[in-house]
Amino acid sequence: MPEIRFELADPRFKADPHATYARLRAEAPVFRSRLGRGRPVWLVTRYDDVAALLRDPRFAKDPAHARSGDAPWMPGFLRPLTRNMLDLDAPDHTRLRSLVQKAFTPRLVERLRPRVESLADELLARVRGGRMELVRDYALPVPLTIIGELLGIPAADRNRFHRWSTTVVSASPGLGAVRLLPAVWSMFRYLRAQFAARRADPRDDLITALVQAEEAGNRLSDDELLAMVFILLVAGHETTVNLIAGGVLALLQHPAELDRMRADPALLRPAIEELARFVSPVELATERYAREDLEIAGVTIRRGEMVLGVIGSANRDETHFAAPDTLDLARDPNRHLAFGLGAHYCLGAPLARLEASIAIPMLLDRAPDLRLRGPEVRWRRHAFLRGPREVRLTL
Ligand code: HEM
Repeated sequence: MPEIRFELADPRFKADPHATYARLRAEAPVFRSRLGRGRPVWLVTRYDDVAALLRDPRFAKDPAHARSGDAPWMPGFLRPLTRNMLDLDAPDHTRLRSLVQKAFTPRLVERLRPRVESLADELLARVRGGRMELVRDYALPVPLTIIGELLGIPAADRNRFHRWSTTVVSASPGLGAVRLLPAVWSMFRYLRAQFAARRADPRDDLITALVQAEEAGNRLSDDELLAMVFILLVAGHETTVNLIAGGVLALLQHPAELDRMRADPALLRPAIEELARFVSPVELATERYAREDLEIAGVTIRRGEMVLGVIGSANRDETHFAAPDTLDLARDPNRHLAFGLGAHYCLGAPLARLEASIAIPMLLDRAPDLRLRGPEVRWRRHAFLRGPREVRLTL
């Protein structure tokens, strides 16, 4: 099968990938491509195939379990990162996930509601002159502050942390990855200092709980502790920022739906699900490796090959969603894949839903004349994530 090449991370592609995805679903639902100029990959674009892929035990997350030669080379000091739950299979995955699962249940997350409300309120109160840049001033600080507080990262360090994290998640595969090394190095040094501080002076935060689990013996290794805090911090804000900013942008581009949302508070719950589907803040599911030769939609995938499910395409599949390119805040049923499926289903989904369902309506409420300042929206350069980089608003 010939390779189809396109720049998944290119902001121009990110601005509107849906016509391309519709063609791929029709003409090449499983096709070979490359991540950047580097690793070969199979991309899967239809809803049913992506849903099956995410749950299929014939795929491993850890390339070693698929005896894959595709695992990217990485310098030794980065190796702890591969010990994060999203890149592991049972039983390690189950052990690591169960260590933090309790902190992210809907019931415990609901306790954060007053704090998310006061934070969103503070951020809006800071707006001067009736203008804001949605990402920097609101959509980013909400999830970044909340995950930082949950873990116990001092407020003064959060922006520095976000700069490292952005460098890491936006590095293009292959040679581009070299540029992320100094950021990862600084981030690791910083986190290790935080762990030492919590050992000496325990507090009521998740880092302390994890440091204690690591000290308790065989539940969490030193590398796994680092990987855990890293993934919670990064996944905890680099995604939700896209849902809040992308969600507000989608509403501004669909004024009838925006009016509907303002008029009917009962619409909030389905509206957040529809925005998650429509925006698909995580555009691609992460790597999966075939443990054996197998077929997807009649295409043979060989053992060890890497497969990525295109969530952004599955969520617009016309065979699964009526009028998939229409934003319909009352859509029901709405079994979108924005938070994944199966064993690796998003751990933070209750938190992301809570943050978006507070931040989006509060902004609409405070700014009855909310408008885009100019037609230009810049998109972030990312292969796996999709969200606006800058949205200038008049309140
Ligand atoms: C709108 C916001 C979010 C979206 C769209 C999202 C999406 C996803 C998706 C699609 C996956 C599965 C990836 C795969 O199977 O390859 C995932 C996993 C994960 N997410 Fe989220 N996420 C969001 C917010 C969060 C937040 C706030 C946290 C904070 C803790 C978080 C933590 C995680 C973790 C730890 C995993 C790995 C779970 C595992 O391997 O068992 N996410 N997320």
